[in-house]
Amino acid sequence: MSKNLKVVLLGYMTSGKSTIGKVLGEQLKIAFVDLDDKIADAEGMPVSEIFSRKGELFFRKKETEILSRQLNEESSFILSLGGGTPCYGKNLEIIHAKTENTFYLKLNISSLLERLTNEKSKRPLVANIADDDLPEFIGKHLFERNQFYASAKRIIECDGKSVQWIVDEIANKL
Ligand code: S3P
Repeated sequence: MSKNLKVVLLGYMTSGKSTIGKVLGEQLKIAFVDLDDKIADAEGMPVSEIFSRKGELFFRKKETEILSRQLNEESSFILSLGGGTPCYGKNLEIIHAKTENTFYLKLNISSLLERLTNEKSKRPLVANIADDDLPEFIGKHLFERNQFYASAKRIIECDGKSVQWIVDEIANKL
């Protein structure tokens, strides 16, 4: 394993980036960093409150700032991004310039829909969307974002797979 191993997990909201990142970090004995948590810590409030009080643009600026700082660290870590992180500004370039270990945790729309319906309130982008409108929203959103996610070096098909299976799949490819 290389000295400064930087692993970046990409994927749509609720694709499991944080869950997988945490277990992978424990397994590889390296730090796990959740980008949303870092942003929330820096601002002293949860992400949903940053959106409502300061707006999405402010959030996106902070996201880029904290992403760059993290990727410039001379250390090993697993970094789980926010669902939108690779899709804005130069974030994708910044990521690919710093590591080859990028993994897209891919799930089909029906799995995402089920998870997101249960976890809407924590996610400002979908919190106000009616359940009936969610399938169309996710379909369009994923269509727009897929090109960014698909730039990951590896795509992990996560449907029907256990957390441990996904973690091992990533670990075996490092
Ligand atoms: C976002 C996803 C969220 C969080 C913010 C915006 C997005 O992270 O960064 O609410 O644009 O998809 P999760 O993917 O962890 O939900």
